[in-house]
Amino acid sequence: MSHHDERTFVMVKPDGVQRGLIGEVVSRLEDRGLKLVGAKFMQIDRDLAEEHYGEHEDKPFFDDLVEFITAAPVFAMVWEGADATRQVRRMMGTTDPAEAQPGTIRGDLGLDLGQNVIHGSDHEDEGANEREIALFFDDEELVDWEQSAEGWLYEDADF
Ligand code: RTP
Ligand code: MG
Repeated sequence: MSHHDERTFVMVKPDGVQRGLIGEVVSRLEDRGLKLVGAKFMQIDRDLAEEHYGEHEDKPFFDDLVEFITAAPVFAMVWEGADATRQVRRMMGTTDPAEAQPGTIRGDLGLDLGQNVIHGSDHEDEGANEREIALFFDDEELVDWEQSAEGWLYEDADF
């Protein structure tokens, strides 16, 4: 089962929450076969925002990014599945929704670089998924559970 259990951090951003897109985003990830193992509806404070986006602290857009991500609640989640980090990024589409492929979350649901609906851990940044999960969730907030559909999702899992 081990290669099905990669976890990644995903978040519906304030624009997605305000536009009523939590369900749409969750639905797409569920439909793909990914397994939800943690979720919380929360407002990010400035300290958490600055830590989460620390890699961008020297960028000219950093202050706007922190202001945006703290401006309204977010829906933070942990999703599990084979190659989950990279697969969620593929489903999200490129950073700028104006360039994201139709069929992707950003390409279908957004128009503006600064308000791009969803965050997902960067699969090209080794360990970013585990770091972000630890930043937003305590271990006891993550649920280990058996997904009864697993045998119908992965060829090497039992029915
Ligand atoms: P995210 O971290 O939010 O999932 O987005 P990402 O990996 O696709 O993009 P990243 O490079 O990490 O940038 C973080 C967020 O900053 C905003 N941004 N603005 N004005 C700009 O040039 C610019 N570049 C990035 C975007 O809202 C992006 O999601
Ligand atoms: Mg990023």
